[in-house]
Amino acid sequence: MAEALKITDLHKSFKTGFLLKKKKILKGIHLEVKQGEIFGYLGPNGAGKTTTIKCLLGLIFPEKGEIRILGQPYLSLSAKERIGFLPENPYFYDYLTASEFLEFYSQLFFIKKDKKEDKIQSLLRLVRLEKSAHLQLRKFSRGMLQRIGMAQALLNEPSIVFLDEPLGGLDPLGRKEIRDIITSLRDEGKTVFLSSHILQDIEMICDRVAIIVNGEIINSGRLKDLISEKINFTEVILSGLKEEQLRELSESLASSGDRIFLKITDESKLEEVLQLVHSQKGKIHSLIPRTETLEDLFVEMVKTQ
Ligand SMILES: Nc1ncnc2c1ncn2[C@@H]1O[C@H](COP(=O)(O)OP(=O)(O)OP(=O)(O)O)[C@@H](O)[C@H]1O
Ligand SMILES: [Mg+2]
Repeated sequence: MAEALKITDLHKSFKTGFLLKKKKILKGIHLEVKQGEIFGYLGPNGAGKTTTIKCLLGLIFPEKGEIRILGQPYLSLSAKERIGFLPENPYFYDYLTASEFLEFYSQLFFIKKDKKEDKIQSLLRLVRLEKSAHLQLRKFSRGMLQRIGMAQALLNEPSIVFLDEPLGGLDPLGRKEIRDIITSLRDEGKTVFLSSHILQDIEMICDRVAIIVNGEIINSGRLKDLISEKINFTEVILSGLKEEQLRELSESLASSGDRIFLKITDESKLEEVLQLVHSQKGKIHSLIPRTETLEDLFVEMVKTQ
């Protein structure tokens, strides 16, 4: 089975400034996305995420490199027909209602009249906007707009969907709603390529990620392999002891009321703390082992660049 997306040695520069000097933005990107996976394209602002996506969609042209989508050359009609796209800052026609908006796009995609109604209804259901079908988009919240944008990106029943910062600017609930839609797309067998600088969301839903910094991929792979499972430290909250009894055993210690908060890196010291609490008839309120997160990894990598 061909990869859903394969990018080989992609280079893109822009001419900028008064002298129109060439500035290298993408410096040889290599990427492979498998079919049916959620792939996270992760990087700080200005790293080149949107530029990569624009190249993939044929909106701008790279100087060098090869792109294949679903085994086809990316500019071929057979590849384009199977692509869905949600841009970074989508523009919406304010005065259209949600269903009029989808109706408009179904005409652009030449969706047959007899199928159109069902398609629009099922998409509104998927993005949980069926109750707002007749509401004008200018009355939509940012989260609702992002969801109607997702519905639009899915109208042509794409096999691969490109989402540029789909979670940007959303509150935690809005982010959860979009994450749920994205995972349901994977359940249907679609491939999802999404860019983001919100690490937590990527961490929650992506099967594999690539990290781009300054136009170069600095790491990629399965999340499990990038993030070590090793426990960095353990957070303990306890009561019934005095701070002095614990000072030697913990790197960082704070208290609030009768609760004492500890950060312990050394496992043998953790053991000692637990024994001490037991012998003093104190109480452990929580004990949380902290493992490395994608955020730690990202900060580490960007720092060493
Ligand atoms: N049309 C253009 N002309 C000149 N420079 C551009 C153009 N488009 C993008 N750039 C520059 O290319 C770099 C990468 O931009 P890009 O939009 O791809 O970043 P990004 O990773 O998507 O960032 P963000 O997280 O902010 O969306 C930036 O320095 C940007 O200023
Ligand atoms: Mg961008």
